Amino acid sequence: MTTIGDVARAAGVSAATVSRVLNGSATVSSERAERVRQAAESLRYQPSGPARALRRQRTTLWAAIVADIENPFFTSMIRGVEDIAQRENHRLVLCNTDEDVDKEAAYVDVAIADRMAGVIIAVASTTRSSLDPLVAAGIPVVAVDRRPRSSAIDSVLVDNRLGARLATEHLLDGGATRVACITGPARLSNAETRLAGYRDALAERGHRLDRTLVRRADFREEGGHRAACSLLDGPRPPDAIFVTNNLMTLGSLRALGERGCRVPDDVTLVGFDDALWTSLVSPPLSVVAQPTAEIGRQAAELLASAGSGRPARHVVLAPTLAIRESSRHRPAG
Ligand code: RIB
Repeated sequence: MTTIGDVARAAGVSAATVSRVLNGSATVSSERAERVRQAAESLRYQPSGPARALRRQRTTLWAAIVADIENPFFTSMIRGVEDIAQRENHRLVLCNTDEDVDKEAAYVDVAIADRMAGVIIAVASTTRSSLDPLVAAGIPVVAVDRRPRSSAIDSVLVDNRLGARLATEHLLDGGATRVACITGPARLSNAETRLAGYRDALAERGHRLDRTLVRRADFREEGGHRAACSLLDGPRPPDAIFVTNNLMTLGSLRALGERGCRVPDDVTLVGFDDALWTSLVSPPLSVVAQPTAEIGRQAAELLASAGSGRPARHVVLAPTLAIRESSRHRPAG
């Protein structure tokens, strides 16, 4: 017997959209509604009475599985997801993995057991996270912020490598000669591509990579603080620091303040991720800004159109360098 899922897959829309079209809702575009009607007719779909009544009462659930619920990047991204989920008559369940692959696997199991209609996920490990169980269960998945192991999964990311290169070139062009980089864990693609952009800028400007100026941390405030202390207390401290995420930038600012290092006079600094506070701190912070809510919206649009058998899509959005006082160029000499 033809199901609503068969019609949804044939029309390239979600089951909730099929339900709204067949119930005469006006919230679906005429193009999508026509696709649904044609698919239902060609498949001779006949909604059952009780199932139809049940569908009218029930929304379907999407799971948003994020790596750190305390990181404002993720809450801002989820804001963008929510707008589309609402339009598609889905409700959002927020799950936090704390960058732990075992916790992540447990949430994947819940999404399958509760037959969720889709999953948006920032994987806890580009190398170790497994999304195969979701694919095997026929649950649409879209990866955000970090690339998953499989290229067969839709993804929405920012061009991390470009953003990091712009930030580092800006610090070098401002007269810095010892630019340090604090990046995230090697298991995450965004940490690796931001480090690669830092290296690109050094090569582009004819600087040799000095590995004593590179630190890895955990994308958290305390990890950023430890990494910055290690750099600043070393025998040849940096005169500029590029920090590859918001929370580690806060930790770095704490380490600089504890040592009386003045930003930008002693050390210039660029972070990654814009937020309301970056222009309110003193000095206002230069950052690589991501179109965070747009990442969420585009991920949700991919999820809403999943199931049509189309090839995986990999959306890469452009970052912007917001230059403020923390990286003001020092006068030559
Ligand atoms: O995933 C952690 C970090 O990567 C966030 O702060 C944001 O920069 C994201 O892209």
